Amino acid sequence: MDQLDQLVAEAGADFAAAADGAALESAKARYFGKGGSLTELLKGLGKLDPEARKTVGAEINKAKAAIEALLTARRDALQQAALEAQLAAEALDVTLPGRGAGIGGLHPVVRTLERVEQLFRSIGFDVAEGPEIETDFYNFTALNTPANHPARSMHDTFYLENGDGVMLRTHTSPVQIRAMQAHVEAYKDRETMPELRVIAPGRVYRVDSDATHSPMFHQIEGVWIGESVSFADLKGVVADFLRSFFESDDLQVRFRPSFFPFTEPSAEIDVAFMSGALKGRWLEIAGCGMMHPNVLRFGGIDPERYTGFAFGMGPDRLTMLRYGVNDLRLFFEGDLRFLGQFR
Ligand code: PHE
Repeated sequence: MDQLDQLVAEAGADFAAAADGAALESAKARYFGKGGSLTELLKGLGKLDPEARKTVGAEINKAKAAIEALLTARRDALQQAALEAQLAAEALDVTLPGRGAGIGGLHPVVRTLERVEQLFRSIGFDVAEGPEIETDFYNFTALNTPANHPARSMHDTFYLENGDGVMLRTHTSPVQIRAMQAHVEAYKDRETMPELRVIAPGRVYRVDSDATHSPMFHQIEGVWIGESVSFADLKGVVADFLRSFFESDDLQVRFRPSFFPFTEPSAEIDVAFMSGALKGRWLEIAGCGMMHPNVLRFGGIDPERYTGFAFGMGPDRLTMLRYGVNDLRLFFEGDLRFLGQFR
């Protein structure tokens, strides 16, 4: 039965030549399909006499089984190869170093706060903090703003429910009182109290929201109290600070008369840049004034002996001006595409 051996060998070669599953299936059809070589041989059996049909049939079945085995083996080999190719293509090298975890960066307003702290530290200021939930006493009364004082309506206050007049502080000025009290306590055994020089950066809250107002924003309070602190000192300190902060010697600074219950006289501080997009426009960046005698008294300091100035700056505004940002809300939406630009 050389013919059958030859057919098996031929099928083996055919299958081996099939490079993928589809090619193998068409090779298979050449043997097992309608009109395929094996199919034809089996059909031919009918013409033989019963004796010969038996022996020849057995031979053909043997060859058929052999070809089926070759087919299965080739099919397995192709599947294995495909799997290996896929694994190689999708391989992950777990030994590669990572791409680096984003370590983040400081928020632009925090950068401003740190810069302001650094500049004030360099002229002898300490940095203090106060609570964001304040009492009526510290937020208003001790700042010479008693109940029913019309100036209270200047601040749209968030009160805490059932909080007994407890509120989110509307400004950092309550830290003036807290800082004075702590200072007086620290030096109560001394004949003369050293000067108090402190800034207090932090979050404050008002019922307000648009492109230039956020219900949460930042302020930096500044206080300098001593035996001969004057409005001239206030002007010098603030103007020097602003020129350092904006790194500009020809920055214009103007003190415009204003009113705050806790300072007398009071002023708003405006700046104008001499170049750039905002050239020549006056922009308000702080309130300030000489501390009112009542406020010093509430802090435990004798207004006959000591004087002081205070200011409250808007570091969000400072940040917008320094980086040329025109919408305050961008700072507080937490969009990393925006925040990531300040690293
Ligand atoms: N607390 C004032 C405000 O929020 C600013 C200010 C602070 C004014 C200190 C004078 C002195 O508007």
